[in-house]
Formats: sequence, C-alpha cells, structure tokens
Amino acid sequence: MITIFDDSSRKNKIYQKLKELTISLQFKDGINKIGFEAEYIGRLVGIDRANTSRELNKLVKEKKAIKIKGKPVLYLDRKSLEEKWGCRIENSVFGSREEIISLLKESKLFCRNEESQKNTNSNIFLNTALDNMIGAHESLKEQIEKAKAAILYPPNGLHALIIGPTGAGKTTFAEAMYKSAIQLGVFSNDSPFVIFNCADYADNPQLLLSQLFGYVKGAFTGAATEKKGIIDEADGGVLFLDEVHRLPAEGQEMLFTLIDKGIYRRMGESTTTRKAKVLIVAATTEDTRSVLLSTFLRRVPVLIQLPSLESRTLKKRFTFISQFF
Ligand SMILES: Nc1ncnc2c1ncn2[C@@H]1O[C@H](COP(=O)(O)OP(=O)(O)OP(=O)(O)O)[C@@H](O)[C@H]1O
Ligand SMILES: [Mg+2]
Repeated sequence: MITIFDDSSRKNKIYQKLKELTISLQFKDGINKIGFEAEYIGRLVGIDRANTSRELNKLVKEKKAIKIKGKPVLYLDRKSLEEKWGCRIENSVFGSREEIISLLKESKLFCRNEESQKNTNSNIFLNTALDNMIGAHESLKEQIEKAKAAILYPPNGLHALIIGPTGAGKTTFAEAMYKSAIQLGVFSNDSPFVIFNCADYADNPQLLLSQLFGYVKGAFTGAATEKKGIIDEADGGVLFLDEVHRLPAEGQEMLFTLIDKGIYRRMGESTTTRKAKVLIVAATTEDTRSVLLSTFLRRVPVLIQLPSLESRTLKKRFTFISQFF
C-alpha cells in the first residue's frame, strides 16, 4: 500500500494527537497546567516543530484548535475541551494560560468538578502513560502510585528498581515512567530515555563499562578515539538499566559515584570528572537480595514489584490479550 503523506493527512495526524492529549487532561479543583506545545505534539507524531506549528495554526484558523499565547505557545483541541468540561469556548486565541483558566472558571466548570473531587490536593489530574497501562486501576495500582511518587520526589526524583519475571512489563513500565515524567512536567519534552541492557555485554565487563561510561583515546587496545558513553547520552533524562543484575561490581561502584555525587569518569580518565544528572530506572528478573550489592539497593530506594502475567486475574489477562487482536 502506498501512503501519500500530503498536507491534509499531516494536519489530521496532528489534530488526532491534539484531541487525544486534550481528552487525557482532567480538572481537579484548579488548573496550573493546560495546553500542549507544538514541539511535544510534533514529537509524538514524528513531525518537526516548524511543520507542526504551521498545521496547528491552520487548525486554529479553522476554529478546531485553541491557541494560548506565551512562552511556550500552547494548543488544545476545542471540541474535546468543550465536551469534557461542558462549556462553550468562543475564542480561538487566548493571551495567556490565566485568561483561558479564568474563562473556564467562569463557566462554573470548577464548581461541578470540585464536588466530585473535593478530597484531592493536586491542581490538575493528568492521565499519564502510567495511568493508561493495563491494570492501572487494579493489579498495578500500588506500583503506579509508587512510580509516580518516585518521579515527583523533589528535587530530581528517586531512582527505582523494577522487579518481575520475563514478560511482566518491566520495559513497558519504565517507558511509561519516563513518559509520565514528561507529562508531569518533571522532565522537558526533549529529555532522553536511554535503554542499556547489561546482559548484552555481560561476558565482557570492560566493554560493558566502556559502553556505559565512555572512554578516552588509548584507554585500551583499540580505543583510537575518545567516545562518549550511555551516561552522557542519558544526561538530563532517564537511564533504563535492563537486567541490572548482570552489571559487574565495578560498574555498580561507578554508578554509586554518579548517584551520590553526580559525577563519573570515562574509562581511562584519571583526573577529569564529568557531571551528569540521570534518573536511573533499573530492572531485573532476579531476587534482588541475592544478586545485587546491598549498597546498590540502598541507593535505589524505590522497589517496584510487577506481578507475572499468570498471576493476574483471568479477566485482566483477557483484556490484555485481546489488545493484540
Ligand atoms: N500493564 C501493561 N499494559 C500494557 N501492555 C503491557 C503491560 N504489561 C506488559 N505489556 C506488554 O507485554 C509485552 C511484554 O512486556 P515487556 O517487554 O515490557 O516485559 P518485560 O518484563 O520487559 O520482559 P523481559 O523480561 O522479557 O524484558 C509487551 O508487548 C508490552 O507492551
Ligand atoms: Mg524488558
């Protein structure tokens, strides 16, 4: 099948994504976050920022999208917003977030929602990637609460270890944590998510460490030029260390220095230290006490145990499986 990707399908793609994002927003008893940046929307659909902005502005002209001026400029889908919160919005362009918020308040929207959500303190409830996982309200409820708390822990979040058998959803969960961190505004939209599987290099610890931390010229035979490592790439975002029980003790030690002091060295570097800020989400299928240094566990305070697929209820398993057909 040949897909001709013309302007209208590009606009549609963006419009659909904007709709989805707007639907995922929910009010609690106030708002401090509303609207989505062109860059973020564009990244989700694989279209560059300039073209995304162009299409969004067309949608604003057609009165399908709402534009909130400011730095950054934000967009919302009009219909979803109107339907979701039972109000009519005449304007297509707002001067600021405050302006649209006060309009929504005037529409008595808040009174209606306040009633049902009296007991919550947060200003807005965003349906994050974690909330959209299968089992979010049942078998994974506790795990998701823990993960959100880890992400939101000030100032930079808490490192987490996900434990669960193969296929339990560890990689999926880690990715959802990353996406949620962006949705919750903890990370910027362009922050990295880097996956490193410690098992890939398990029989060559030197190679593993050089991949992870990088190396300088001459660090070992064959190190002809300096190379940056995974830590460098993950700076400012999430490093997902899969099968972390395969990380050699030396690597764990180097990771501690990074966790404790925010510094690391490339292999072969003796004087220079480098800075990096990464949130580590590690995963293992093993019983942690037996395979990971106790010092590692002390630095990764959040343990998230995922149930195996078999242990989920039949109904859940059915929902889960039917997703693939
Ligand atoms: N709660 C969930 N919601 C939606 N999809 C899920 C969920 N849990 C697992 N999956 C799906 O199940 C499959 C296996 O999940 P995943 O690869 O994340 O498991 P894993 O624990 O990382 O496995 P492995 O140990 O083999 O790496 C994927 O297709 C994933 O999308
Ligand atoms: Mg996995």
